[in-house]
Formats: sequence, C-alpha cells, structure tokens
Amino acid sequence: MANQKGGVAKTTTVASLGAALAGLGRRVLVVDLDPQGCLTFSLGHNPDRLERSVHDVLTGDIGAADAILDTSDGVALLPATIDLAGAEALLLMRPGREFTLARALAPLYDDYDTVLVDCPPSLGVLTLNGLTAAHSVLVPLQCETLAHRGVGQLLRTVREVQQITNPDLVLLGALPTLYDARTTHSRDVLSDVADRYELPVLDPPIPRTVRFAEASASGATVLAGRNNKGATAYRDLAENLAKYWSGSELRTFSG
Ligand SMILES: Nc1ncnc2c1ncn2[C@@H]1O[C@H](COP(=O)(O)OP(=O)(O)OP(=O)(O)O)[C@@H](O)[C@H]1O
Ligand SMILES: [Mg+2]
Repeated sequence: MANQKGGVAKTTTVASLGAALAGLGRRVLVVDLDPQGCLTFSLGHNPDRLERSVHDVLTGDIGAADAILDTSDGVALLPATIDLAGAEALLLMRPGREFTLARALAPLYDDYDTVLVDCPPSLGVLTLNGLTAAHSVLVPLQCETLAHRGVGQLLRTVREVQQITNPDLVLLGALPTLYDARTTHSRDVLSDVADRYELPVLDPPIPRTVRFAEASASGATVLAGRNNKGATAYRDLAENLAKYWSGSELRTFSG
C-alpha cells in the first residue's frame, strides 16, 4: 500500500484487508514501515513498549521471524517503533539499500500466503524498500477535491522502481477510500483519476464511515466489530483480490 499523501487510508487498508484475507483462511503478515507505528498501534500493540521491531530487522540485528507478533485480528504483525525514523538515515549509507526489506522478508515466503506492507507518507527510502519488496502495489486514494495531486509523482516512482530495483512490480491500481456514494463528486474524482493516469480503479470503493476511527482506538480492525459497511467493503475487496491471485480478472469499478 503506497501513497506519499498522508491520511488516504493506507494503514486502515493494510489492517482491514489483512484481517479480511485472514478471514478467508489465508496466512497473512502485515508489515509496519511507518516510524509513527500507527499500524502497530491499531492492531493492539503499543510501539513504545516493544523491544524488537522492523527497525532491528532492517539494520540486520535480528531475523524478521524474531520480531513478528500475533494480533487479535488473526494476522501476524512485523511492528514498527519510532526507531525506524533512524533506520532511514542508516539505510541511506548502505549499498543496495532499496533491497533491505526484500532480503529480510525472503526467508518468510513459505510461511505466509500474503504479505501487506504499510508504507509511510513519503517517497523516501522506506517506501522504496516497500516497492522493491512487493509483487504489486495498490494506491489508496481519497475521493476528495485535488486529493489526487501527487499521483503522477507516485506513478513516476513506481516506474523507476520497475526499471531499476523491481522489474516484476505490478501496479494493481487505485483503491478509492473515504468514498461517499451520495455525491457525484466522489465519482467524478475517480473517473478523472482513471482517465488521466490510465490507472485501473479497484472494486469496491471503501465507504466513509465513523467505525474506522472507533476501531483504530480499540486495538482491533473494523472486521472485529459488528457488521458494518466498512467491514463488508474490505471483505469484498479481499475476495476480489483472492480471485485475482488464483487467476481471475481483477474486478474494477465503473462508477
Ligand atoms: N473509510 C473510512 N471512513 C472513515 N474514516 C476513515 C476511513 N478510512 C480511514 N479513516 C480514518 O482516516 C484517518 C487516516 O487513515 P489512515 O491512518 O489509515 O491513513 P494513512 O494513509 O495510513 O495515513 P498516513 O499517511 O498518515 O500514514 C484515520 O483516522 C482513519 O481512522
Ligand atoms: Mg499510515
């Protein structure tokens, strides 16, 4: 999940989609690549109280398996702490720095069916590590005015990664978040993005609902609570992706 714009629901998507995929019986690992540790916190772990995190994995001090935690949502979590802010500077001085995460995760590929990486809101070395480790990239996009400024820059970065560090990287498409089906505005923004950037738009869009704020404070995702339209949308998205991974066409949104 990558978008250098803040607050577009990258973290919410990694947590909720991860929980939904786990609900389909997949073994899911989620990776917190943001020094803020929001993913870690939203899955019930306090970043301030952790002894081991993705930072120690990226610096090569421990293997990834030794930092992974369980969560009540049924996904495994490679957590982040504020230490990760320092990893950025440290990685910059290393040869092959973009490959650090890919190398760290490689020994785990037999243990998980899906690994979801929550990138920070920047196009720095951490996001480059996420894009280099990934098979595909999904771009959460908030359906509001001008929210898509910066998409061009992100897509240029994705193309550079495809040319330089990860030729197999697939740009899956945009995922509309904070979507308000009652306004034509959300739909206009989406069709504009799809046309302008020739970017597939995944189905279904994730509706705006207050349940997400409640959930992230509770230490579990919206899927843990009673049924609501946010949870339903992420379950639908999980099914769409699971079918795509087993050979079907990706279902896209047509408004
Ligand atoms: N579908 C939704 N409806 C309502 N609120 C939402 C929805 N999705 C996410 N939010 C809220 O929007 C805020 C930003 O979401 P989130 O932290 O997932 O974005 P982000 O892209 O990871 O942000 P950052 O760039 O800072 O890492 C959070 O308060 C979250 O609870
Ligand atoms: Mg985030």
